[in-house]
Amino acid sequence: MNNYSRRRFLSRAGLAAISVPSFSQGYKLDDLNKLNQEDLTSANISKWDLDTPALCVDLDALEGNLASLQKVVKQNGIASRPHAKTHKCPQIARLQLASGSVGICVAKISEAEVMFEHGINQLLCTTTNVTPVKIERAMNLRKWCPEFIQATDSPANARLLSAAAIAKGIVADIVVDVDPGMHRTGITPGEPALALAQLVDQLPGLRLRGILCYDGGSQHVKGFEARKKQTLERLAPAVETIRLMKKSGLNTEIFSGGGTGTYNIDHENEGFTDVQVGSYVFMDNQYVAIGGENDTERYTDFTPSLTILTTVLNDQYEGRVTTDAGAKACTINQPWPLVKGESGMEYRSGSDEFGTLTYENPSRTYRVGDKIELIVSHCDPVVNLYNQIYAIRDEKVEAIWKIAGRGLSQ
Ligand SMILES: Cc1ncc(COP(=O)(O)O)c(C=O)c1O
Repeated sequence: MNNYSRRRFLSRAGLAAISVPSFSQGYKLDDLNKLNQEDLTSANISKWDLDTPALCVDLDALEGNLASLQKVVKQNGIASRPHAKTHKCPQIARLQLASGSVGICVAKISEAEVMFEHGINQLLCTTTNVTPVKIERAMNLRKWCPEFIQATDSPANARLLSAAAIAKGIVADIVVDVDPGMHRTGITPGEPALALAQLVDQLPGLRLRGILCYDGGSQHVKGFEARKKQTLERLAPAVETIRLMKKSGLNTEIFSGGGTGTYNIDHENEGFTDVQVGSYVFMDNQYVAIGGENDTERYTDFTPSLTILTTVLNDQYEGRVTTDAGAKACTINQPWPLVKGESGMEYRSGSDEFGTLTYENPSRTYRVGDKIELIVSHCDPVVNLYNQIYAIRDEKVEAIWKIAGRGLSQ
């Protein structure tokens, strides 16, 4: 394509010159991104006019989830340190801190960097960084962000962290990651964890702050009592580790762990300080299915707030339609996404670009161009597919939030 025809193509496609959004034809993201917050508010845009697939969060539900969590952890005498791996979005981290959380966890050093760039300081990296590049990045971040805390799970790693901290002229804050028995990450509880904590305490570049013990294998156990029994058993060795550390005069100010499935159980572990809940902000079908303390079938402590808006592309066959949200918009995590407000409909996002909705005896039929709202199956990987999230209140777009940590896996 020569320059002249390329310019004409761009201007025809609306990519070169952005005009005022068209109310009748819906809104392009490029147009919306040009609006400042005031104009966005006064434009009063309906979520149903968004171009699709679009990731949306219902603000009333999200705010309700933040408040519900804080109420329970406060009652239980502990704090929350929500995990940003779920949302990767600085605006949501800010809301979590404003709701009373004591800090924000991150899974990747890149997530920590991006949160810090967006003004979030109270950061804890729950993953041990093992390569020289990542250790250098972690200690560099600590240099500029005094509230940054890094996890470690081996003596060799602690020594590397200490050397890197000394090279930066800092003393870095460290928590020891303790394995709850999954053997995924973390050091063996008891004497090995105690020895690592003593080493961290002694190394000149490090300051011991406590331990982490995230029991991921218990979060989705179905049934509250079964979940409680399993996680308390699995955390018992970490509790014993904390006792040993206390006896040795070590700092145990942080004993962090738990998640959305165990947030109302974790305080029963002696010395436990804060829950690293992630999914509670959005909830998802995987979590709804685990059942709660009062409802054995549905986990209703938090309300699903995250949805994907999708458009019907084909309605030519009875009992089914094809939409524009497939695996690249929903992932292929199961259970499959649910159609919001409908029962007796099945949605599959099994093919790359297309979703398939099948139904019998529907309350309504869907036609080409109609929009459908899906409740996601697993929130973390879905969020990672989108650049922005539309913050919706009463069906109107209240804000557009950048998912600044999207795709940052290093
Ligand atoms: C270390 C760690 N902490 C906390 C969480 C948050 O868990 P959830 O989304 O179940 O609340 C996760 C999730 O995978 C995690 O890996």
